Amino acid sequence: MKALVLSGGAGTRLRPLTYTGAKQLVPVANKPILFYVIENIVAAGIRDIGIVIAPETGKEVKDRVGDGSRWGVDINYFLQEKPLGLAHAVLVAKDYLEEGPFLMYLGDNLIGSRVTTEVKEFANREDLAASIFLKQVPNPKSFGVAVIDEDGRVIDLVEKPEVPPSDLALVGIYLFRPVIFDAIANIKPSKRGELEITDAISWLIKNGYNVQSHRVESWWLDTGKKDDLLLANDTVMDEWLQTDIRGVVDSGSRITGRVVVEEGAHLEQSVVRGPAIIGAGSHLVKATIGPFTAIGPDVRIEQSTVEHCVIMEGCVIQNIPRLEHSVLGRRVHVRPTPRNQESLCLMVGDDCVVEIGR
Ligand code: DAU
Repeated sequence: MKALVLSGGAGTRLRPLTYTGAKQLVPVANKPILFYVIENIVAAGIRDIGIVIAPETGKEVKDRVGDGSRWGVDINYFLQEKPLGLAHAVLVAKDYLEEGPFLMYLGDNLIGSRVTTEVKEFANREDLAASIFLKQVPNPKSFGVAVIDEDGRVIDLVEKPEVPPSDLALVGIYLFRPVIFDAIANIKPSKRGELEITDAISWLIKNGYNVQSHRVESWWLDTGKKDDLLLANDTVMDEWLQTDIRGVVDSGSRITGRVVVEEGAHLEQSVVRGPAIIGAGSHLVKATIGPFTAIGPDVRIEQSTVEHCVIMEGCVIQNIPRLEHSVLGRRVHVRPTPRNQESLCLMVGDDCVVEIGR
């Protein structure tokens, strides 16, 4: 079986981070979300993976992911000129996919479980045209929503309904047989102007095809906004982080709990409380870090406390008594103003949010 990963789209909800980078490459515990997606596909035994990319971020995705050899798989890229919807993205890779069943995975979705059993089952169930993954959520209006019967067969599906018919959201993982291309050929763009995969699956149901569902019992995180990203970071570090100290920790520093200190990182008279990760080449001096904090590569933190944060590559934080619940993109500097103590002195790009303690 092949897999298709959707790594195009505009990523508007994660602005400003997505002005300069792909949403799917935003790090969770210092690893791009897309890498977790690929690892899950590889764990299901799939060796041929297509990735849909956008003109704006495609090169960055290709440079980071490569040809798949690091996972022992073959990766092909498909350029989607415009983000015209999930079903449109599938069409872009039609020639690659149309010969057999395939797994489709949205490149910004993280789940806490494998999909191996479901993939194997689908391969053997030729009676199934599609299979979808569902999760009970408190806010179904924000997602595709499914209605199922007592056997888990899908009987209705709607995309982001005003009045949700159930609380079962479509997780961004789907299994399809090539008949999905007939379905896509028969749907029209939705109100938001996109060819929706949800509408294509609805077409299958209305035309008598069998669509099955699986419940995701583990956590599922859609890394859409800042708080979702912090939650994804918390969850992944809480569940999967194992202590691994490769950098230099001086005798004046203290590490407690599960902490990763990557190669080339240097801790001087600092305290790190896990779960936390300190990226390669980062330098901490008299800093207090964590818990639930991911410091990216080549970050410098001096005389500051940083808790429950995602700090990306190349940031510098100096003399800040307390930074918390924050996400800093690449190369951000945070330091006291040399002017009046009461004043704020900002150089901030578009769509940033600055929250000041009172
Ligand atoms: O996260 C699950 C939800 O994903 C489902 O519940 C919905 O039914 C499904 O439509 C989808 O909704 P979103 O509005 O969250 O999709 P989004 O536009 O964020 O796109 C999901 C991924 O697909 C993201 O990684 C970008 C990529 N994408 C998106 C579009 C619209 C593409 O590659 N091409 C596209 O044209």
